[in-house]
Amino acid sequence: MTSVDVFEQSKSVESVFVPQPDTLLSVKGLKVHFDIGRPGLGGVQKKVHAVDGVDFDLLHGRTLAIVGESGSGKTTTAFSVMRLAPLTAGTIHFDGIDLTGLEGEALRRQRRHFQFIFQDPYSSLNPRQRAGDIVRMPLSLQGIGSPAEQQQKVSELFSLVGLREDQQMQFPHQFSGGQRQRLNIARALATDPQLVVCDEPVSALDVAIQAQILNLLRRIQKERGQSFLFISHDMAVVEHICDDIAVMYLGQIVEHGSREDFFSRPLHPYSVALMSAVPTVVGGRERALNRIRLKGDPPSPINLPMGCRFAGRCPVKQAVCEKESPVLREVVPGHKVACHFVNAEGGQVVTPLDRQVANGYIREGVL
Ligand SMILES: Nc1ncnc2c1ncn2[C@@H]1O[C@H](COP(=O)(O)OP(=O)(O)O)[C@@H](O)[C@H]1O
Ligand code: SF4
Ligand SMILES: [Mg+2]
Repeated sequence: MTSVDVFEQSKSVESVFVPQPDTLLSVKGLKVHFDIGRPGLGGVQKKVHAVDGVDFDLLHGRTLAIVGESGSGKTTTAFSVMRLAPLTAGTIHFDGIDLTGLEGEALRRQRRHFQFIFQDPYSSLNPRQRAGDIVRMPLSLQGIGSPAEQQQKVSELFSLVGLREDQQMQFPHQFSGGQRQRLNIARALATDPQLVVCDEPVSALDVAIQAQILNLLRRIQKERGQSFLFISHDMAVVEHICDDIAVMYLGQIVEHGSREDFFSRPLHPYSVALMSAVPTVVGGRERALNRIRLKGDPPSPINLPMGCRFAGRCPVKQAVCEKESPVLREVVPGHKVACHFVNAEGGQVVTPLDRQVANGYIREGVL
């Protein structure tokens, strides 16, 4: 099969997103474009295409990780889900409710059901508030429980995240980095949210502490059956925590699948490149490792290139890649990829890397 045949085959399979009954969060066609500067000649407004057509579903009780390099639009996606970013287009359904149309009091009431854990455990805590009051704050804001019930809940949460009862009286500066993130987690869980959005929750912590916090999040998620949207630039961290994974590149999802499928066989050349940066080599990943070393930076999200956004860095691009944008499509059940040249052939998925290796154009470790 020539590359042209493969490309034609890829076009014939449409991207289909069927909402599933156990979906908690459903994001469709999400776009967030930020205006920058004043309009130039002819009134043309420059825009940053931070998020540029993102679709995903997050199921009840599961953790979906969104992974990608800095600037790929992860935080903006997380903020959009929290209704903290101005949406340019798209819809966000949460537990059947269209969040996109909610404002004011109606939105405030819904907020108890989705909470956020910030990247920086230092700046996200009020330095003048005692730890117990920090964790109690969401309950007070939402008017949940009597003072005695709130106190009981705060004590339970301190115990849940591994903080001592007497630490409720301390101020944030008296806590270590890991303890402050535990405090952030306790605060996020205070209202028993169905969804917890975590934006790089361990990236500001030492590696040893990262593992403790990840284990804590994993345990909480399993025990309480909440859904997590977990944002990270770090593939090793994501591997530890996710059930499903979506890889973002320049404002779009380029691959989306289950943890097992993705880590045993990443299909998109960019995902393979990200995996190459993971120091640990386990089982099925050896094939992928060392094959692509990512060079250069992504193009500007202001002046987007035509065609595949990864083409400028893709070692296996073809001429068509710079003309036509690949759509995110299901190549095998549950595993979606946006690459013209990833296709199922006779029951087997073949990637452009496979073809290049088979044709002798590339060898392991030379890209
Ligand atoms: N408020 C804003 N105004 C203009 N550009 C923004 C704004 N917020 C984010 N961006 C830009 O949007 C892109 C995506 O940013 P972000 O969502 O923070 O990415 P990530 O979290 O993956 O690092 C970046 O190019 C960033 O500079
Ligand atoms: S990832 Fe590479 S091969 Fe696939 S469509 Fe983009 S440029 Fe082409
Ligand atoms: Mg970010």
